[in-house]
Amino acid sequence: MKYGFIGFGNLAKAVYQGLERVNGIEFAYFARSKKGVKMHYFDRIEELVSFADVIWIAVKPQDIGGILEQLQPLKLEEKVIVSPVAGKSIAFIEKYLGNRVPIVRIMPNLAIAYRKSVTAFATNQPHNPHTEAIFEILSQLGKAVKLNEEGFDLFTSVFGSGPAFILAFIQIFKEKMREFELPGNVLDELLLELTQGTTQYFAENQLNYSIEELIRNITSKGGTTQAGLEYFRQHEIGRHFEGVLDAARRRSEEMSRG
Ligand SMILES: NC(=O)c1ccc[n+]([C@@H]2O[C@H](COP(=O)([O-])OP(=O)(O)OC[C@H]3O[C@@H](n4cnc5c(N)ncnc54)[C@H](OP(=O)(O)O)[C@@H]3O)[C@@H](O)[C@H]2O)c1
Repeated sequence: MKYGFIGFGNLAKAVYQGLERVNGIEFAYFARSKKGVKMHYFDRIEELVSFADVIWIAVKPQDIGGILEQLQPLKLEEKVIVSPVAGKSIAFIEKYLGNRVPIVRIMPNLAIAYRKSVTAFATNQPHNPHTEAIFEILSQLGKAVKLNEEGFDLFTSVFGSGPAFILAFIQIFKEKMREFELPGNVLDELLLELTQGTTQYFAENQLNYSIEELIRNITSKGGTTQAGLEYFRQHEIGRHFEGVLDAARRRSEEMSRG
């Protein structure tokens, strides 16, 4: 199997990192400039397309139109096009390439590099073994779910942007801990232990307990956690945080329209 990346930025690098140990995949890329990676670079898109069986369009949403115009005259029916591009539907891609080209739309996150992405998957050819093979590969790179495209905007806000929102929360903890006057890297290590411990607590108990029960287990009556959680509820922090997810979702919807 030959995978070709159009664009080799953050997302393509993460996909490559997640897949590089999988046997039987050869990689190459095309971008505006050559990168410092040990992978074949094509400086013409036509050459990348003739090399690849699977073409990953890993450019920013504002650049995908120009790329699809360049792909339009090329023969693509035997290939699979994979697009992680936020807000760009399969119908949008079909406007350029037609509906006979197998197209897979995905929404991964950067944890795909560590095989821990949560990835949404949709395709215009669900019965094609080549598109199903992409779903299988994505399932090796974390959890993959088949989703109607209408769900992509919400999914993008929760799982695509989610790592940044969780880190933004961790950043608040870090700012608070500056009172300890510990070096920044020590603070990061402590926060990492906190988040890994919390994740493990969640992972080990999620089959038997709800999140509410897990929170309750840490909360003693009249204690510190309860005081913090009361503030959380009184000031509707949850509702405000929902606003963050809604803003990201709205932006994804706007990008889909534009
Ligand atoms: N980053 C994430 O966490 C994430 C998560 C889910 C989905 N996505 C989606 O993945 C896509 C890529 O995001 P990214 O973060 O990887 O962006 P990025 O780091 O900015 O990389 C974009 C790449 O596109 C290349 N490019 C732009 N215009 C091009 C052109 N006309 N011809 C050839 N190459 C071109 C750039 O090449 P040069 O470097 O040579 O200029 C660069 O390598 C986006 O559409 C985004 O919605 C990203």
